[in-house]
Amino acid sequence: LSQESQSVLSAYEWVTKLYHHLLRYAKDGKEGYHYLQARGLAEEAIDAFQLGFAPNAKDFTAEFLEKKGFHRQILVKAGLVSLLNDNSVSDRFRGRVIFPIRNHLGKTVAFGGRALGDDQEPKYLNSPESDLFQKGKLLFNFDLARKYIRKEGEAVLFEGYMDVISAYQADVRNVVATMGTSLTEYQAKLLKRYVNTVIICYDGDNAGVEATSKAADLLRTVGCEVKIARLKDGLDPDSFIQKYGKEAFQNEVIKASETFIAFYMRYHRQAYNLNLEGDRIKYIEKMLEQLAMIDSPVEREYYLKELSKEFDISLDTLAGELQTYQSRNG
Ligand code: GTP
Ligand code: MN
Ligand code: MN
Ligand code: MN
Ligand code: MN
Repeated sequence: LSQESQSVLSAYEWVTKLYHHLLRYAKDGKEGYHYLQARGLAEEAIDAFQLGFAPNAKDFTAEFLEKKGFHRQILVKAGLVSLLNDNSVSDRFRGRVIFPIRNHLGKTVAFGGRALGDDQEPKYLNSPESDLFQKGKLLFNFDLARKYIRKEGEAVLFEGYMDVISAYQADVRNVVATMGTSLTEYQAKLLKRYVNTVIICYDGDNAGVEATSKAADLLRTVGCEVKIARLKDGLDPDSFIQKYGKEAFQNEVIKASETFIAFYMRYHRQAYNLNLEGDRIKYIEKMLEQLAMIDSPVEREYYLKELSKEFDISLDTLAGELQTYQSRNG
């Protein structure tokens, strides 16, 4: 690491402690504490994730760090403060709840800062990307989740910070999240190194379903088995846990996650009008193409039978078609 990167890491370490301390113990951080409390987070989780609060002040952070001996240019480089025209400095994070973003070694390399109001823009303000922090190369909570991911042989993938922290509180700990961007090949390969199976548990809204389909394709391309956890009523994992509790989340969402192909069938059903013969045939072909990629003969046969029943086509005919697809895959 360059000297500069080391200083940036050190600044982040100080600020993580500062913001966390303010949230937990100081008057200046009370708003943040109450916000998280209202969202159902207990002290144990707040401490485990070192959640904090950046006070609503112009240069509180800048002053704190300059007193610690950090040079301005390092703080600007770190994206913690910005330099104004009049040569004064201004904190990047003000009046926001702070989520430290740690790399795989557990070092804070960035922050996500959430506004206290739901209609404030942006809702989340993140640190800028740097040598130390690239969104597409990092999975939130990977450092803490790693040992659980290994133990379970499965990883659960979420969209957001709050989903990870809520799941942690619900005793589901093999959990990571992307940070508002689509899953990258880099992240998919990172997961593949640790597990065979990834459970995608994205938000239950339309955007979440679209993103699920994309992430599933990518994960399958790098060789992961994919399962899909479904959330009803357009909820996201965090809001589901708040509404229905941890047992429901464990048993009705995570343990009840469906196979990729079941998701795929439902997803594509919406895109086709199965009353039209042409669409029906296209749909069946699309399903056969996917079934041909499934390793488990039992699973293959199960869904082949479903197709056979639903479209009243003999199993033999479908199995024959499936073989053409399989030989195409080599
Ligand atoms: P809450 O409203 O606090 O529960 O957040 P959420 O995680 O449910 O938010 P959402 O599902 O909208 O977004 C998922 C993730 O995308 C968040 O955890 C952030 O990492 C990221 N994100 C959301 N909104 C913004 C934004 O306005 N700016 C940036 N940079 N990232 C965002
Ligand atoms: Mn959003
Ligand atoms: Mn969303
Ligand atoms: Mn969400
Ligand atoms: Mn949410």
